[in-house]
Amino acid sequence: MKHPNITAYEGVENLSSFDEPTFIAYCEGKIFDCVKQVNFLREVINKESYTGNVLEVGSGNSKLLYALERNDLLNYGVGYELSSSRVEFANRFAKYVGSSKVVNLCEDFLEHDTNSESFDLVIGVDIVMQLIAPVAKDNDKKFLDKVYHSLKYGGALILELMDFSDIIKMDELSINKLRLWKEFDSFDPWQYGLDKFTINGDDVIWDKIFISRDRSIDDSVFQNILRHYTFKTIHEKLCAAGFLSVNIHQHKYWETEGDIPKDEYIVSAVK
Ligand SMILES: C[S@@+](CC[C@H](N)C(=O)[O-])C[C@H]1O[C@@H](n2cnc3c(N)ncnc32)[C@H](O)[C@@H]1O
Repeated sequence: MKHPNITAYEGVENLSSFDEPTFIAYCEGKIFDCVKQVNFLREVINKESYTGNVLEVGSGNSKLLYALERNDLLNYGVGYELSSSRVEFANRFAKYVGSSKVVNLCEDFLEHDTNSESFDLVIGVDIVMQLIAPVAKDNDKKFLDKVYHSLKYGGALILELMDFSDIIKMDELSINKLRLWKEFDSFDPWQYGLDKFTINGDDVIWDKIFISRDRSIDDSVFQNILRHYTFKTIHEKLCAAGFLSVNIHQHKYWETEGDIPKDEYIVSAVK
């Protein structure tokens, strides 16, 4: 049986749940979400006229790659994404934004060969590395070694991670009965999410229920198993992969305080 993290996003962003106006509103909302990341990356790259080769792992609908292309920050982009529905969405999104420089691969990043020293930027935003780590023993080492191998000297890895320390504490205090509700943006076809957490060693089992806007489609249920990393533990792993400690930094937000959830943080590591 496949690990739940491999199949968790199958069916997500299924084009059949969108009509033309909701597709356009959704894409515009997603591109707008990336302004903060584009501005952050411009700073990390630190060159006004930069255009580089960008690899995104777990690229989802590829919004960030398209946003980088739109801002002339991308010479060539490749997105690796396991979910075929998301890749289909990403390809339609490419037509909508007129992308010509981004390739979407429906592939497992760990199973695909990449040329050495060929990328200026490798991106793993929205907990991607934490999804990859629990799938098989030493997957996090395999992931970071592969990223290091793919980066040019001077190139950067950007990770967005969630620190589960508070969730683990709250779970202990609630005697394993922790439940959290959230509400999505008005352009999202999902209106509410209900989250349940179970702690299993270094991993957090996160069960999610999505409830659609106006209950127009059935609830969607899925599970992620996520590896817990603090900045200290990820720093150690990055050093083990070859990054120098002085080139590894923690960031609390993309552009302005509060633009990521308080438990999340960003890590930049320059090769
Ligand atoms: C939390 S989502 C983030 C999507 C996107 N980066 C974003 O910010 O919206 C994580 C994505 O990573 C994909 N993924 C997980 N493991 C992967 C792997 N080994 N190779 C490629 N994609 C992977 C999942 O299918 C999922 O769509």
